[in-house]
Amino acid sequence: MLVVKEKHELRTAIRRARQAGRTIGLAPTMGALHAGHVSLVEAARAAGDFVTATIFVNPTQFGPHEDFERYPRTLEADLKALDAAGADLVFVPDRSEVYRPEHATFVTVGGVAEPLEGAARPGHFQGVATVVLKLFNMVAPDRAYFGQKDYQQTLVVRRMTADLDLPIEIRVCPTIREPDGLAMSSRNAYLTGNERRQATVLYRSLKRAQELVKGGQTSADAVRQAMRSSFAETPDVAIEYMALADRDTLAELAQIDRPAVAAVAARVGKTRLIDNVFLGDER
Ligand code: PAJ
Repeated sequence: MLVVKEKHELRTAIRRARQAGRTIGLAPTMGALHAGHVSLVEAARAAGDFVTATIFVNPTQFGPHEDFERYPRTLEADLKALDAAGADLVFVPDRSEVYRPEHATFVTVGGVAEPLEGAARPGHFQGVATVVLKLFNMVAPDRAYFGQKDYQQTLVVRRMTADLDLPIEIRVCPTIREPDGLAMSSRNAYLTGNERRQATVLYRSLKRAQELVKGGQTSADAVRQAMRSSFAETPDVAIEYMALADRDTLAELAQIDRPAVAAVAARVGKTRLIDNVFLGDER
């Protein structure tokens, strides 16, 4: 596994892989890697790609009062995990390699980037879209791999890719969970023992929604009420939003009568967690 810090080294390695006839797969990450990230690398390997992972805690997608400074940084363990998973190339740029001081160009996606995380975290998806486009341009992958864990992010990346005519296939991999259902997240490291136990309520509420819809319930109000009742015994969890939305547009639904997604964001103590599941046809 080759580890590079500079764009010119990245480009050289990618050019060599292309000359050897390989397709290029990209798994962008912010590090603090867990089995969810590893699953993206495995998916790229399974597709036969020359697997390129990136580790970059992207400052432009964090709000001024968010956790950029204290975001977990575990580079040594990350590189071990990527090597073990079979990554071929890892790009670990410094901030200045990605954003020069005079950087002044940002990508703004409309529509699917606006509700939910877009409303809760102004500027977040602009930062995500900007860095993902930059990584796409640096790596020029055939395929890029993202996790369903950040479902809205996958829609934003798909929208940008289509709108800007990028010749890149976006593949979305299932959410990897802890045995008790909690979606794996680098931010789970912030949770105290007590918070960690309460954090399972996000997935429990989503499973409840899934069961109700499977049983024929179509009223979003009824589903939302049932979800809310899951949170009755978790005093340290504050719901930020609970959405039942069209799976493609993220438009809020009154009737769950088409492929939908249930998405929640909550603060568990000071830690903000998100999770989602599909409702209805689970394509
Ligand atoms: P990060 O949170 O590190 O996640 C990197 C990728 O791993 C994303 O596609 C995310 O959806 C996926 N992922 C995270 N947890 C997962 C889980 N439990 N199961 C499956 N996949 C999971 O998302 C970002 O970084 C950044 O926004 C990034 C795209 C790298 C741009 O900076």
